[in-house]
Amino acid sequence: MTREDDVLHVVGGKPLGGEIKVRGAKNLVSKAMVAALLAPGTSVLKNVPEIRDVQVVSDLLRLHGVDTTVDGKKGIVTIDASHVEMPAVSDVETLSGSSRIPILFSGPLLHRLGEAFIPSLGGCRIGDRPIDYHLETLRKLGAEVDKEHEDGIHITAPHGLKGTKIHLPYPSVGATEQTLLAAVLAEGKTELSGAAIEPEIMDLIAILQKMGAIISVDVDRTIRIEGVKQLKGYTHTALTDRIEAASWAAAALATRGDIFVKGATQPEMMTFLNVYRKIGGEFNVTDEGIRFWHPGGDLKPVAIETDVHPGFMTDWQQPLVVALTQAKGLSIVHETVYENRFGFTEPLVKMGATVQLYRECLGSLPCRFEQHNFEHSAVIFGQTPLEGRDIDVPDLRGGFSHLIAALTATGESNVRGISLIDRGYADFRGKLTALGADFN
Ligand code: EPZ
Repeated sequence: MTREDDVLHVVGGKPLGGEIKVRGAKNLVSKAMVAALLAPGTSVLKNVPEIRDVQVVSDLLRLHGVDTTVDGKKGIVTIDASHVEMPAVSDVETLSGSSRIPILFSGPLLHRLGEAFIPSLGGCRIGDRPIDYHLETLRKLGAEVDKEHEDGIHITAPHGLKGTKIHLPYPSVGATEQTLLAAVLAEGKTELSGAAIEPEIMDLIAILQKMGAIISVDVDRTIRIEGVKQLKGYTHTALTDRIEAASWAAAALATRGDIFVKGATQPEMMTFLNVYRKIGGEFNVTDEGIRFWHPGGDLKPVAIETDVHPGFMTDWQQPLVVALTQAKGLSIVHETVYENRFGFTEPLVKMGATVQLYRECLGSLPCRFEQHNFEHSAVIFGQTPLEGRDIDVPDLRGGFSHLIAALTATGESNVRGISLIDRGYADFRGKLTALGADFN
């Protein structure tokens, strides 16, 4: 049953307008906090957003005996990993189900303690999201992975980790981070081909370099890591959350509004900005951030395919689809990263959108889901007026997209399970108020 404070009552149909600030990227900050475990010293991470994922990783670090302080208001996390210990399995399990980050503790814990325990993983329900690449990477580096336990996966490295050649069948963000975090202190060189090169990964590499690591990235997605004997703490300012920035940009477009996203940066958002312009959205890049607005008139439809960086991010897809319901004509979205990321469109259809899902690949990018029966392509026909409804939030990005839909729709909506959005959108209620949204 949904708690009363977990529901947002939204009166939609008003353009959002004003200024909001976006801090560091959720998908870098959590990994940067794990990286601090690699060094027996103090690390300081700045520009940290007040989101639940930061609390989850802080709690996990503390469970491992690591002194972790979070100053939410200032956005500073201080981690002193001088002391690391193995927590009770039952304690780690209390946090399982809330995040996929625990798997990334493996490398640092193997280096510091010689063992690691991974509880069954949480994170958003957007497809199977297996961890086979992670485990294969750890095995190749010399870890022994024991999956015979009911409570989770036990990993040991009786002979330490040793550099090796690893190839990823798909440029997985998490598996690339896994390799980085495990190989920096491994003996010898590691060559990772088929790696992901998302800006958040580049920022993680920058942090590891500050800590003393030697890592190079080649044009052909090969990352080379020369293992070093020890690392030291870092001080780093996290790069901006380009997913949150794009989500607010989509909200501006869908509600015919005008939002200045302070902190948003252009280089990481270029692919998004091109699509935004093609749809007919306006933006202006300044030193402080990016202003996004609907210039009036009709929005234009687009055909997009999600992809790994530098392609169009899968996490941008969901909020943008809501804006595409307000474009005049047929838009096509081919999702090639997750097999099951269109479930959120069902409530949109109930609100009045016309969205048809297809199992076929409606695009030309090589796609792992071809012939696999997954509804991973969508055709959106607009412009359709949306009407307020009661909606259940399915996952983080889908949930924020429902919120945008409720704000776009005429009439009232109850968006239930809203706390899921706190995982990745800092103070979104405060930001909605600043933008003049009508909700309670
Ligand atoms: C990260 O997830 C992000 N999460 C996701 O953001 C993001 O959508 C995704 O990267 C892609 O950009 C965090 O950083 C915490 P992947 P990750 O490994 O690392 C398959 C959000 O809303 N795969 O690149 O888990 C997998 O099933 C979230 O902020 C395997 O098959 O993503 C998926 O189809 C959601 N085996 C594809 O690869 C594996 O071992 C990409 O996953 C690992 C992944």
